[in-house]
Amino acid sequence: MEKIIVHGGQPLRGTLRVQGSKNASLPILAACVLADGVCEIDNCPDLSDVRAAVRILQHLGCTVSRRDNHLTVDSRRVSCYNIPDTLMHEMRSSIVFLGSVLARTGKALLCAPGGCEIGLRPIDLHLQSLRALGAEIKEENGTLRCETPRPLSGTVISLSFPSVGATENVLLAAATAKGTTMLLNAAREPEIEDLIAFLNACGAAITTTGEGTLVIRGVSHLHGCRHRVIPDRIAALSYMAAVGTAGGDVVLQDVETKHILSVNRVFQQAGCRLETDAHTLRIASCGRLQAVQDIRTLPHPGFPTDAQAAVMAMLCTANGTSVIVETIFENRFHHVHALRRMGAHIRIEDRVAIIDGVARLHGAAVTAVDLRAGAALIIAALGAAGTSEISGLHHIDRGYEKIEACLQTLGAQIERSAESGRQQPKQNQSVRRLPLR
Ligand code: EPZ
Repeated sequence: MEKIIVHGGQPLRGTLRVQGSKNASLPILAACVLADGVCEIDNCPDLSDVRAAVRILQHLGCTVSRRDNHLTVDSRRVSCYNIPDTLMHEMRSSIVFLGSVLARTGKALLCAPGGCEIGLRPIDLHLQSLRALGAEIKEENGTLRCETPRPLSGTVISLSFPSVGATENVLLAAATAKGTTMLLNAAREPEIEDLIAFLNACGAAITTTGEGTLVIRGVSHLHGCRHRVIPDRIAALSYMAAVGTAGGDVVLQDVETKHILSVNRVFQQAGCRLETDAHTLRIASCGRLQAVQDIRTLPHPGFPTDAQAAVMAMLCTANGTSVIVETIFENRFHHVHALRRMGAHIRIEDRVAIIDGVARLHGAAVTAVDLRAGAALIIAALGAAGTSEISGLHHIDRGYEKIEACLQTLGAQIERSAESGRQQPKQNQSVRRLPLR
């Protein structure tokens, strides 16, 4: 079993280019199904979730090739409208293929992506919206049978919550529908803007008219295009939290700083020094950080739920009591158990985490149970005294491209080890295996 071994306590210094966005790449790959042509996608990170999306595209009849972080997707021969359960189960966001397959082929047969480790994650808003566009959807024992007896046609849809995935499915299904769709209370995440930019480059006619309203004028045909995926704001924030935790001075390149404004405030309140221009961010941290009391995860432009675990890891050693309220997912505090094993003092009251900062965490053997929780454990380990072993790396590899290599370039003592026990902790640094609480 692979593990990441971190010898903590080394400040981070240097320059790192941030990867392309996972959560922008996935719906863009689903959108390729709609484009009857060749799409050239730059800055597409090589991640296990992206590879899962590529397998779905290949199953549907697309030809896909990768050269470094450049993907070429030829979707002229899409021949299939079903997605096998094994491919659907590989990642939750496979559900965004529903809108594009339905729009391209008039049918879709796939299973619901199932529950997930961070909450119930229903798809009712996706299905309601697609039905409003004219899709007939039958749900039988977890299988979704979808058809369009008549061409999908534009309408007014109002989401009861600005769901990212439901917004993406509406964009994909409505881009080539008859007439105009107006989507109210749409998600406003930067990844949505990037999907719109991609679709418009393929010939779609989508405009935003302000606060969460999208107007999608259906066009008859989409063609291929060339598109560069936006930088990954969550990866950038994770590396920022690593610097906040371990200390140091790091320049992050290829950051869209306007995408992370709500979180910059938290880093500054904690005592990190930030210098930003449009695409570069310098973060410096020295000495003990201060607690931050009022963090509440919210849809964009609020504080992103995907950064909650990383920031919590950073605040475990801040001076004072920090409070984080998780409002997006009902079960996104899985990292707390492992952080406690590293010496953190965290109480959970329903969706509220109360973090009493301790002077230092200590290394431990811990397991990542979801993607962002895994990154949080690495961040905590970078600042901890002694050595940590982090397992469950398949979760981390879903969203972070070569995370250990990136941190090594900043001077972290971190490595991936194929076998447990091969890496001996350094002298005076012991891996503490604490009993489960
Ligand atoms: C996207 O998930 C992201 N995934 C998530 O990132 C991110 O945490 C989330 O948006 C929120 O920002 C991708 O982009 C691939 P939602 P998604 O639909 O689309 C409820 C990561 O770590 N809801 O906005 O699934 C839902 O249960 C991942 O990279 C319904 O009730 O998020 C949740 O509580 C994890 N009914 C809330 O809305 C629905 O039909 C937000 O979900 C849909 C959603």
